[in-house]
This record gives sequence, C-alpha cells and structure tokens, in this order.
Amino acid sequence: MDIKMTPVPHIAALAPYALADLAPELTSLAQNESLRPPSPDALTAAQRALADAHLYPDPDWIDLRAALACIHEVSADAILCGAGSMELIGALASAYLSAGDRMLTSDLAYLYFRTATQRSGAAFDLAPESGFTVDPDALIAALRPETKIVFVANPGNPTGTRIGRDALARLRAALPGAVMLVIDEAYGEFADGLDEGTFDLVAAGNTVVLRTFSKAYGCAGLRVGWGVFPPAIIGQMRKILNPNNVSTVSQAAAAAATRDQAYMRDTVRQTADIRDRFANRMRAIGLDVPDSHTNFVILAFASPEQAQAADAALRAQGIAMRGMGGYGLAHCLRATIAQERTMQRAAQCLERFIGEQP
Ligand SMILES: Cc1ncc(COP(=O)(O)O)c(C=O)c1O
Repeated sequence: MDIKMTPVPHIAALAPYALADLAPELTSLAQNESLRPPSPDALTAAQRALADAHLYPDPDWIDLRAALACIHEVSADAILCGAGSMELIGALASAYLSAGDRMLTSDLAYLYFRTATQRSGAAFDLAPESGFTVDPDALIAALRPETKIVFVANPGNPTGTRIGRDALARLRAALPGAVMLVIDEAYGEFADGLDEGTFDLVAAGNTVVLRTFSKAYGCAGLRVGWGVFPPAIIGQMRKILNPNNVSTVSQAAAAAATRDQAYMRDTVRQTADIRDRFANRMRAIGLDVPDSHTNFVILAFASPEQAQAADAALRAQGIAMRGMGGYGLAHCLRATIAQERTMQRAAQCLERFIGEQP
C-alpha cells in the first residue's frame, strides 16, 4: 500500500536549494571554491587524524577553537564550530525564528539566509542594495516589529562588495537590542588586509560573526565553519547543533590550516592578483564589474539575453560560471577566481564573445 506522508506545510512549500548547474567535463568557476588545495600542514594533519577515525570527533572542537582563539585574539569560550557556516546559519534560524517572525537581509544577499528562514517557518524581508552594495539605511528602514534577525554577508555573495566596520557598527546601534545581527564573513579573510576586525562587535550584544574554512583556507570539502557568539546564544545553539558535527579529520585539518596563516595569506594574495587582472580585462570590454573583496567577481552584461549567450559561449569552451537569475540579476554571471591559465581562457572567450556582438 502506498501511504503518502505529508511534510509540514512550510517545508512542502520550500523549493530545493539551487546548486550550480555543473557537468563533470566542465571547469567550474561556479562555486567560489579556492584556487588551490588546503595547506600542506592541513593535509598532513588530516592524514594523521584518519588513524583515530574509529572514535567520535571532539564535540568541543578544543584544539581547533584554541588555534582560532590564538590567531584572532578572541576567547575560545565565545567560539562555536559547524559543518560549514551553513550549519551555523541554519541553527541560528532554527533557534530564533518561527512562524510569525521575520528575517531581514538585503536583496542581493546570500540566498541560503532565505532558505534557512523558510525552513524555520518564518518569513523574510529584503532591503534594496545600492550599486551592488549593502545599504545599512535601507536595512534600518525595512525593519518591522516582527524582525528577529538581520543577516548581512560582508563581503557579500554574489556581489563581492563590502561595507566598512563603521557602517556595521552604525547598523548595530540602530537595531533594537532584541534584534540579532548576524555578520557572515565567509570571505572575511580576503578583506582582512583592511584591518577592520568585527569580532569585538559581538560584545555590543546580540551580534554574531561567522567565518568559514571553505574559501580562503581552501577546505570547502571538509565542511568547517565557525563563529564568535555571545554567551546567551551559545547556550541555545549547543542544544541544536549536531554534537558530532565536524569530523575528526576536518577538525585536525582546520586547526593546522589556522596555524599556517602564511599559506592562507599567500592564497589570498594570489587570488586577489588574478582577480584584479581578470576584472580589468572584463571592464576593458565594457562589462560592469564592481570591486570585489572576495575570490569571485560579478560580471554585468548589457542584458539577460547577452549574459545567457555568454554563458553558452563559455560552456562551449568547457567553462561554467554561475547564472545569477536566482538573485534577480539575470544580466549577470558570477566568476570564481581560479588559476591564471583558466582565467586567461575565460577572459579570451568573453573577449571574443563581446567582439562578435552586433
Ligand atoms: C556568504 C556565504 N556564507 C556562507 C557560505 C557557506 O559556506 P560554508 O561552506 O562554510 O557552509 C557561503 C558559501 O558560498 C557564502 O557565500
């Protein structure tokens, strides 16, 4: 007998999370992965940790938290780790949002903020960005009495732009004390050179700062995210995080990657050099390319049709960028920065494509 199970209505109404459209033969510039593998120290640590794979992982991430606390000069007690920062985003939404509540973010913010909110049965509001950049005043104007969480990705995905620490502090000060501000710094290491740390904003109350090993550390496949949280939020998060969320191998690799800052800094430097050369070539053929503080750039074409045709031309050359229709930016493609030779191929293909436009 075929017995139909009915999901709860807000899950039934949820669209599956949209991943990149990737065929195995394509070179992916679609997922904002690092242009090089994890640090050799991280690989050695991961290999060693495999010998303990018969044991459950450390539920307190003690060595990883110690490494992060030392490098970032924050208290280890304020840190929580997740299976990627996606787990932490989801857990914040589960703990603090339910039916009747609202989440606020900007219209070009990372789409998973919306998914996590809808999974919790809550609704969301979107404030407009201006010039592909988060506008704190627009966020403040869009606050509602039901708003419980404001998510800001800084630098942003898919825009690559960022707002300064002063703007974030001003936003925090303008939010009611009971509204949580989550600053998602998945690409924070690419902007660290600006020396505008935000971890101290957590002490201002009801503020969380998230980071990940998936981008500058090149550990996307290991699934390790972390964040700095106020004590009251830590207690609630602990109740819902999977107590064995980060594998032994991933914890060991992430701790070693943290201690090898020189390798990560070198990845950031290489990425920024290739990114800036690629962005300038794209500007030279007339595309609008906002300044990026991440490992990707967004390319704005003249029309959605032109962006679609450019995507097809790239795919014909074996390269997959990410269409931005899901963000209401159908005239844009997002290009993750890969090694120089791949970006040369992508640039040549787009130069040829634009050159052939009527
Ligand atoms: C802004 C932003 N936040 C969070 C994530 C998720 O990262 P993780 O791999 O740590 O789950 C991403 C991944 O692309 C991202 O762009």
